[in-house]
Amino acid sequence: MTGEAPPGPRRSHGRIAIRPTLRPRDLMSATPELAGAWRAKVITLFPEVFPGVLGASLTGKALNEGLWQLETIDLRPFGEGRHRNVDDTPAGGGAGMVLRPDVLDRALREAAEGTPDQRALWPVIALSPRGQPFTQAMAQALSAAQGVTLVCGRFEGIDQRVLDAHQILEVSIGDFVMTGGEIAAQALIDATVRLIPRVLGNQASVEEESFSSGLLEHPHYTKPVDWDGRRVPDILLSGHHGHIRSWRQMQAERLTRQRRPDLWRAYCATHGRDPDGDREL
Ligand SMILES: C[S@@+](CC[C@H](N)C(=O)[O-])C[C@H]1O[C@@H](n2cnc3c(N)ncnc32)[C@H](O)[C@@H]1O
Repeated sequence: MTGEAPPGPRRSHGRIAIRPTLRPRDLMSATPELAGAWRAKVITLFPEVFPGVLGASLTGKALNEGLWQLETIDLRPFGEGRHRNVDDTPAGGGAGMVLRPDVLDRALREAAEGTPDQRALWPVIALSPRGQPFTQAMAQALSAAQGVTLVCGRFEGIDQRVLDAHQILEVSIGDFVMTGGEIAAQALIDATVRLIPRVLGNQASVEEESFSSGLLEHPHYTKPVDWDGRRVPDILLSGHHGHIRSWRQMQAERLTRQRRPDLWRAYCATHGRDPDGDREL
């Protein structure tokens, strides 16, 4: 590596973050209230945009309470030369710039900790539009891990060799292209952190949400009962919990069939249903 040693990662978010940072890393992570806390490490050229939206509301409160931890690793100090260059022109020509493998490798080594066995329980993910689609099931799996390291891409992308060498899983948050991986990283962390026990006040709401059952969620209503001539469906005012449950299930099935035929087919396959049956749900 060229030049001076890069600074360590920033733990500048939440109650955890205001602890003294001169202590060795392993002692910091061994502090009692942090033991077992889910951790996200984010390698980015823009550490200042974190925690961003994750610092607000329930995820922000949980961060302050030490239910999870966020660490940003600034990629820039790992760069080459006096200007700390992190990117270069694409081999073979073409538009844009590519993140250098040696630079990202240094940041990934800084992020890695523990034995190889422990690292196997710690996924490393690069946010990328060509990645595997991010799903609720993936959020559930990640929330059960010890933590995750996320690489936020910029420019045209990341040199393939470092993705291969570190066995990095590429994950996409949708079929569109953003300028960088930071918003995607925050989306992935948000969806994951809210599944950690005690982050949401009401864990039952997680179980009833879209995707948890394989269906989109039913519509919601609240007061006033009559708003601008539009009434809350009578069944929801009936007090009959069995009927309300069936109505919600029917609505969830109707919405899923209309809006997400892919999910509907998968749901029917796992529930022994004919996806083309019962047209009038
Ligand atoms: C301009 S994009 C690169 C797009 C790349 N050339 C391609 O065509 O797949 C720059 C970075 O933004 C992030 N990014 C953009 N869209 C994304 C998406 N839908 N999901 C996850 N990350 C995304 C990735 O980190 C990516 O490396």
